[in-house]
Amino acid sequence: MKSREIRSKITDQAKLELSIEKIEVKKPVGSEVLIKMQASPINPSDIGLLIASANPTTLKKIRGAYPKVAMDIDKSHLSFFAKRLNKSLAVGNEGAGKVVDAGKDSKHLIGKIVSVSGGSTFSQYKCTDSFNCIEMKKGITSKKASSAFINPLTALGMVETCKIEGHGAIIHTAAASSLGQMLVKICNEDKIDLINIVRRENQVKLLESIGAKYILNSSSPDFMRDLIKAILKTGATIAFDATGGGQLTDQILTAMEFATSALEQDSPISVQGYSPYGSSAYKQVYIYGGLDPSPITLNKAYGMNWSAGGWLLFPFLTALSQERLEALRERVKKNIDTTFKSTYKKTIGLEDVLNPKYMKEYLKTGTGNKYLINPQVKNIKK
Ligand SMILES: NC(=O)c1ccc[n+]([C@@H]2O[C@H](COP(=O)([O-])OP(=O)(O)OC[C@H]3O[C@@H](n4cnc5c(N)ncnc54)[C@H](OP(=O)(O)O)[C@@H]3O)[C@@H](O)[C@H]2O)c1
Repeated sequence: MKSREIRSKITDQAKLELSIEKIEVKKPVGSEVLIKMQASPINPSDIGLLIASANPTTLKKIRGAYPKVAMDIDKSHLSFFAKRLNKSLAVGNEGAGKVVDAGKDSKHLIGKIVSVSGGSTFSQYKCTDSFNCIEMKKGITSKKASSAFINPLTALGMVETCKIEGHGAIIHTAAASSLGQMLVKICNEDKIDLINIVRRENQVKLLESIGAKYILNSSSPDFMRDLIKAILKTGATIAFDATGGGQLTDQILTAMEFATSALEQDSPISVQGYSPYGSSAYKQVYIYGGLDPSPITLNKAYGMNWSAGGWLLFPFLTALSQERLEALRERVKKNIDTTFKSTYKKTIGLEDVLNPKYMKEYLKTGTGNKYLINPQVKNIKK
C-alpha cells in the first residue's frame, strides 16, 4: 500500500527541498505492525533533520506532481551535511496511531493505539517491529500517546545516569521545556533534588505551579550567587544542558567548583584549604541539546576534575539492560497522561509542514509552542 510522507533533501546546489511523496509501505510480517499514524510531534530534534540550517524566508514552491518547496542553505554548510547530500530522507522521530494490520506474532495489537519511535513518523502509515511500540492503556488517544518515547525516556535517562554515576542531585537547563516539566515530576516522585535553570520569569511561575523546588532565572543579576547556594544545599554535581551554546555550561561548572571546594576544605588534594587542581568532587555537564547555536565558551576555572560531553538517548538505551528498559517503558505507559503528559499549541496537516505560515511558528521551539502533525490530514482549515 502507498503512504504519503514528508521528505527532506539537501542538494549539492545548496538547496533544502521539502516534499510530500507517495512511498510503498510493506505488509507486516512476524512481529511487525502496520500503524495508521494519527499524531506526531515536531520536536527540536526533528527540526534539525527537517529544516537543517536552511533559511525559511527564501522558501519557494516547486511545481510537480507532489507538494514540494525549496529553501536556500548556506554553501559553507554543505560539507557539514556531506553524509545526507542529495538523499531524500524520511522525517519524524516519534508519534502514535492505530494498528491496522500485523504479522502473525502481533495480531493482538490490531485495533490498539500504540506509541512508536524509530523514524518516518511524519507519514500516513508506518510498518515497524512491535518492539518499537508501546501499547497504550484503554482510553489513551493518539494525541496523548504521541510523545511517549523521546522526552519521557530522556528525562528518565537523566535520572538513571545521575544514579549510575553516583551524583546526589541534578541541574537542568531550558527547564521549562516539555522534557523539563516531566523531569520536575519524575524527580519529585523519586525524591531527587533538581535545580531548574530557566531564562524568563513566567517560566519560574510555570515550574512553581508543577511543584519545582529550586528554580533559577539565568537572566537574573544574582544567578551565579543563587546557583552556588542551590548547589551547596543539594550537592548537585551533574547537569544536563539543552542549550549547548554560550556560557551556561561554564557557569554551571564554575558554580559546582565553588560550592564543592567550600564543602571540602580538608580534601586530599588541598594544602591549607587550597588546591590548584580544584575540588576533588567530580563535576559533570552533559550537553544534550543545541538550542543555542553559538559556540560553547569554557573558561576552565574549575581545576581538572570535571567533564563536559554529549548525551544521546538511543546509545544510552542500548546500554541499558532489557529488564531496566522495559521498566522505564512501563513507567511511561502507566503515567502517560500525568507525569509524561505533553501539550501542543496546534495540530496541523502534512502539507501545512511545507507552508511558510506554519513553518515560522513551529520553528520557534519556545515554551508551550510545540506543534503536532496529524498525517491523515492534508491541511487544517485556514
Ligand atoms: N540528546 C537527546 O537524546 C535528546 C532527547 C530528547 C530531547 N532532547 C533535547 O531536549 C531539549 C528540549 O526538548 P523539548 O521537546 O522538551 O523542547 P520544547 O518543549 O520545544 O521547549 C524548548 C525550551 O527551550 C527553551 N529555549 C529555547 N532556546 C533557548 C536558549 N537559547 N536558551 C535557553 N532556553 C532556550 C524554550 O524557552 P523559551 O520559551 O524561553 O524560548 C523552551 O522552554 C531540546 O534541545 C531537544 O533537542 C535531546
